[in-house]
Amino acid sequence: MVPAVVAVTADPDEPALRAAADDLAARLSVPRLEPAQVGCAAALLVVTPRGLELRDPSQPRVLGVRPDFLSPRMRRRASVRAGRQPLLRAVGFRGQPLEVIDATAGLARDAFVMAAAGCRVTAVERNPVIAAMLRDALRRAGEDPAVGSWLRPRLCLVEGDARELIAALAEHQRPDVVYIDTMFPPRSKSALAGKEMRVCRLVTGADEDAASLLEAAIGAARRRVVVKRRLHDRGPWPRPQLHFDARSVRYDVYLAAAAPG
Ligand SMILES: C[S@@+](CC[C@H](N)C(=O)[O-])C[C@H]1O[C@@H](n2cnc3c(N)ncnc32)[C@H](O)[C@@H]1O
Repeated sequence: MVPAVVAVTADPDEPALRAAADDLAARLSVPRLEPAQVGCAAALLVVTPRGLELRDPSQPRVLGVRPDFLSPRMRRRASVRAGRQPLLRAVGFRGQPLEVIDATAGLARDAFVMAAAGCRVTAVERNPVIAAMLRDALRRAGEDPAVGSWLRPRLCLVEGDARELIAALAEHQRPDVVYIDTMFPPRSKSALAGKEMRVCRLVTGADEDAASLLEAAIGAARRRVVVKRRLHDRGPWPRPQLHFDARSVRYDVYLAAAAPG
């Protein structure tokens, strides 16, 4: 068997999902493996009854990663008051809906928090595997009567490179805010979020072109660009005008010239 970067398989306990796994593998142009073959892949996208899950086959005992907008954890995050969420303070949310491009959707947890507050979020994801997981999770959440009614009109997924999407915006389509959260360089093994991102990095790589995304975003946002970084990281990036600190991360804010703030 030729080693694959990413492959699709069906949950071994759910043979009825094999046809769905075949379809998904064909759509993503990646191999579909039987459970006994999964060691051949560096990353595995598993079709489960709960949704699409990304797993690291070298760590079978570590739980897979799956965006789930109906989980108690996401519901709790969405219910925290806006003024107590550094992310919402950083994007300048003051109760009025903002138009946001989340240029690096990933598992869309941040996009979900902004949408839950009332923002209209276009979440852009260029990696087809992550985009497939996200589309599946958004469809499931959209079918939930309580969450779907507000999530569907506020959070939409666009698959592609955000730099291209931004470059193609007409003047009237420019968002209030562009939000950027590219992969942090690998480091600690501790936090749960870190674990999730370690698994995602198996398919996305390191986002080494982040600087060009920031440059594109600064030219496009009407009000501000917000970049999530590790709390104490200092880098060769332009100096932000504001920052909002959370427990382990920091939101750096670049205000647009003549922005209302
Ligand atoms: C760290 S994750 C984002 C996590 C996200 N904020 C969340 O709440 O789950 C970064 C994601 O951005 C995506 N990405 C990086 N650069 C991009 C670009 N130029 N256009 C679209 N997606 C991009 C990567 O593929 C990866 O899935």
